[in-house]
Amino acid sequence: MAASRKLGRELTVSPLGYGAMALAGYYGGIEEDNAVKTIQHALDIGVNFIDTADAYSNGQNEQLVGRAIRDRRQEAIVATKFGIVFEEGQSGSEVPTNWGFSLSINGTKNYALQALDGSLKRLNTDYVDLWYAHYPDPAVPIEETVGAMAEAVQAGKARFLGLSNVTGDQLRRAHAVHPIAAIQYEYSLFQRNAEEDILPVARELGVGFVPWSPLGAGFLSSFAGDSQQTLDANDFRNSNPRFQGENLKKNVDRFAPLQEMAAELNISPAQLALAWLLHQDDTIVPIPGTRKPHRIEENLAAAEVALSAAHLAKIEELFPAGLAIGKTLLA
Ligand SMILES: NC(=O)c1ccc[n+]([C@@H]2O[C@H](COP(=O)([O-])OP(=O)(O)OC[C@H]3O[C@@H](n4cnc5c(N)ncnc54)[C@H](OP(=O)(O)O)[C@@H]3O)[C@@H](O)[C@H]2O)c1
Repeated sequence: MAASRKLGRELTVSPLGYGAMALAGYYGGIEEDNAVKTIQHALDIGVNFIDTADAYSNGQNEQLVGRAIRDRRQEAIVATKFGIVFEEGQSGSEVPTNWGFSLSINGTKNYALQALDGSLKRLNTDYVDLWYAHYPDPAVPIEETVGAMAEAVQAGKARFLGLSNVTGDQLRRAHAVHPIAAIQYEYSLFQRNAEEDILPVARELGVGFVPWSPLGAGFLSSFAGDSQQTLDANDFRNSNPRFQGENLKKNVDRFAPLQEMAAELNISPAQLALAWLLHQDDTIVPIPGTRKPHRIEENLAAAEVALSAAHLAKIEELFPAGLAIGKTLLA
């Protein structure tokens, strides 16, 4: 198996992780026992870095991870997140998104520490390996949120800290309070905004980088070049402008060469998209999600794909930053 990677200075993980949000029903359903088996399959084949969040299906996603690791805690590197308010009676700052809904975010000390206890209970464990703030709370300085998170490290409830969806400036400020092991941020050939601000700052500070939606939420693996693909009416991606109407049609055409290039290299489009990410930097650990165990193997095999300088230059020419049409969640 391909070499493991480091997030920050000390957290060693498999070269790709597994995004358990895929089991939360946003992009199609899966029966619970099969969901647990899917996570266990990831562990079986050496994908030990499992990504979840307390808000995914209101805590249920963490419970699935908890069931999967019940007798295998030592094998798993568990990452979870807090900050999106999902329980009755809790409040936060309203953060509008470009996808037709707003998020309620709470980054206060009390909320953070209470949220972690909830996560630990659902995950059936007394510590998480990596604990992220899911989004910055606009009403709470990042220093305060990370200061609270650092208390959880001191208490032995979290081994390492991470931040998601923050700016480069917020990362710098947070890192000065407590070392940040990893940034989680949307990044793929379908969405390259990370290259402008957060990725360079993460590199400079030696902070690991975990791309979310590394397959463009399935666009790069299934939609690029295939105009027959459609979404079910209740699929969450219907709210994503990049999957809507004319935008989708144009995106399908613009990314069609991905299929052709993958075929030439005798790999799948998913593997090409993931291999490109892995070639950007050895601190990058993508976390593709899938409900299908065989696809975890397919995605892991991307770590064995060697792209030449000529391939990388061709990819750059075909899929420059800004190629996809449609607003991202927050930017
Ligand atoms: N921090 C944040 O704000 C944030 C936001 C979003 C996501 N995340 C994290 O990032 C993880 C991944 O993101 P994501 O699930 O949005 O998107 P993704 O991993 O880019 O794509 C997932 C989609 O791709 C399909 N897929 C996966 N492997 C495939 C393959 N080899 N061939 C064809 N299709 C394949 C899956 O369908 P099937 O299930 O049918 O295989 C699923 O619909 C999530 O699970 C979550 O942990 C974090």
